[in-house]
Amino acid sequence: MLFRFEAGSSPALLLLHGTGGDENDLLGLGRLLRPGAALLSPRGEVLENGQPRFFRRLAPGVFDEQDLIRRTYDLADFVEDHRERQGLGRIIAVGYSNGANIAASMLVLRPGVLAGAILFRAMVPLELPHPPQLGGIPVLIIAGRRDEMVSADQPQRLATLLIRGGAEVTLALQDAGHGIGPDDFQLAADWLAKNFGTGSG
Ligand code: MLT
Repeated sequence: MLFRFEAGSSPALLLLHGTGGDENDLLGLGRLLRPGAALLSPRGEVLENGQPRFFRRLAPGVFDEQDLIRRTYDLADFVEDHRERQGLGRIIAVGYSNGANIAASMLVLRPGVLAGAILFRAMVPLELPHPPQLGGIPVLIIAGRRDEMVSADQPQRLATLLIRGGAEVTLALQDAGHGIGPDDFQLAADWLAKNFGTGSG
């Protein structure tokens, strides 16, 4: 898996780009959200018409569930491997769109890997027979009211799924579409400082 890594303080940020992005896309956002934090930023290994993604989809918003599950486990293993090698400690996912969807999938399929997550423009990644075991970890979902990719019921359904698993979910609805901008970043930075402090540790 191609990736960028920047050494820094803990908690580290796991940066997960959207469809058509790559490992460089969210480094600037990571530095902005939490200056000095360690950053781990992989590139999704699926190509859709030449555009990198973290898992296959059958149509916009319709996921190949088997592929999603397999690649979620692969990504979780990649993260655990780096945690050990680089001594990263706690890791918070910061995902946008397709990256937010695999972060949400990792929360429910591999709880324990992430200490928290910021999900920009996320959807419900998959339906599970049992609630996930999230043990009170904080999750911020930032949705856009005018999002043309994510149907209006999705953010609340995702919040409900994570709350059932015991996560401390904050759901923010922005007056925005699928794209993200300074208002989203400010919310995310404030949430990080509130839940994880401003220093290292
Ligand atoms: C997805 O496939 O994860 C969602 O449709 C979001 C996207 O990548 O456009």
